[in-house]
Amino acid sequence: MTVESVKPEAPVVPEPGEPPRAGGGVPVLGHGWRLVRDPLAFMSRLRDHGEVVRLKLGPKTVYAVTTPALTGALALSNDFIIAGPLWESLEGLLGKEGVATANGPRHRRQRRTIQPAFRLDAIPAYGPIMEEEAHALTERWKPGRTIDCTSESFRVAVRIAARCLLRGDYMDERAERLCVALATVFRGMYRRMVIPLGPLYRLPLPANREFNRALADLHLLVDEIVAERRASGQRPDDLLTALLEATDENGDPIGEQEIHDQVVAILTPGSETVASTIMWLLHMLAEHPEHADRVRDEVEAVTGGRPVAFADVRGLRHTNNVVVESMRLSPAVWILTRRAVRDTELGGYRIPAGADIVYSPYAIQRDPKSYDRHLEFDPDRWLPDRVKDIPKHAMSPFSTGNRKCPSDHFSMAQLTLITAALATKYRFEQVAGSNDSTRVGITLRPHELLLRPVPR
Ligand code: HEM
Repeated sequence: MTVESVKPEAPVVPEPGEPPRAGGGVPVLGHGWRLVRDPLAFMSRLRDHGEVVRLKLGPKTVYAVTTPALTGALALSNDFIIAGPLWESLEGLLGKEGVATANGPRHRRQRRTIQPAFRLDAIPAYGPIMEEEAHALTERWKPGRTIDCTSESFRVAVRIAARCLLRGDYMDERAERLCVALATVFRGMYRRMVIPLGPLYRLPLPANREFNRALADLHLLVDEIVAERRASGQRPDDLLTALLEATDENGDPIGEQEIHDQVVAILTPGSETVASTIMWLLHMLAEHPEHADRVRDEVEAVTGGRPVAFADVRGLRHTNNVVVESMRLSPAVWILTRRAVRDTELGGYRIPAGADIVYSPYAIQRDPKSYDRHLEFDPDRWLPDRVKDIPKHAMSPFSTGNRKCPSDHFSMAQLTLITAALATKYRFEQVAGSNDSTRVGITLRPHELLLRPVPR
């Protein structure tokens, strides 16, 4: 026997195969009808079919990934870009030249322009505005009077984003217009994403007319903001100045369309996501009075009873954990998509070039394989000695990789401050007529949360 003859053979690497197909599709709409009927349950059950599964949405085959590790691999791989049904429908709102839908060198350049406004060391400059808005929110409310949480949450989210990043005065009238426009546009876009029946949406039906009017008003608002800044002749150190003075790859000023689309691309995700998260935080304070009390106790221990300030946020560990746990169970962004730019593989399965891939942070963040008592609201799971048991990428509400939300620090600071201000001033009770069931759209939020504030 020669030495060669006992040498182990090179291992046979199996060709990546096709992922299993999810059950329950129907002719024409495929799995689209399930996505429409009960999207959260549908996305959550996909993990039972495999780590990567095939879906039919109308005529299209779409791939879903269902494990934290594979969502991380997807977000971090250069084989996938921002594209697909979600982004195509978002382009109708965001425009084609904004950072949220750009790819490649344009995207890198745009991120460089906006990033300084969101850096950790830029956030303290926004502290006084966040503080003022958080307290103004609680002061507007009258004990015993019902709060419409949807409009109140939108209002504060829009005001903080606009006052901090665009240094706009943002009168209530304009914030109100923006909220109305966004609500209609996001509702319409969600429908267009899930049931992509293009020509139907061009018919002169009331719903389509309402959608088009809202979209037009949104763009008009942005034009007003840009025109006002130009007319003022001022150039404060803010995101809008950075956009107005940005140059392209050749060093030439960027075009008007790109400036417009960039403002839309920053303002719209900024208000919808933060507003939805505030609604869930209000809901949590009402439904978990024991946690509301713990937040109040922590805030009082840190502040000694004075109004909570931005500078206190770093000391509010438990309040921060409450925000994180609320975002785990009720993430504003519940579905994300990518598109494969070449033939590639994920989790050992073949993904063809051009394929759309979808995943749900909601499903990932409620997976019993990642979380003990996965449906329980337990902010202490984020304490240092427990957090290490949570798998990587199992909690990624701001995503990861080159498309990670630039606003993670900005958002967490305002959400923690607002939660602290709310819990120290009031207890909350749901009132008759409140509907706290989950409303699924581009973001998740309660259908119509109505609360009564009771002074502490
Ligand atoms: C991107 C979540 C607040 C601006 C994203 C993404 C997520 C996200 C998950 C990445 C999408 C992907 O991977 O495909 C959130 C959540 C927020 C929040 C949960 C608050 C609770 C904000 C705010 C702003 C903002 C306040 C701006 C004022 C953006 C922009 C992008 C983005 C511009 C696109 C980034 C890129 O493509 O490079 N956000 N976001 N977000 N977010 Fe946020």
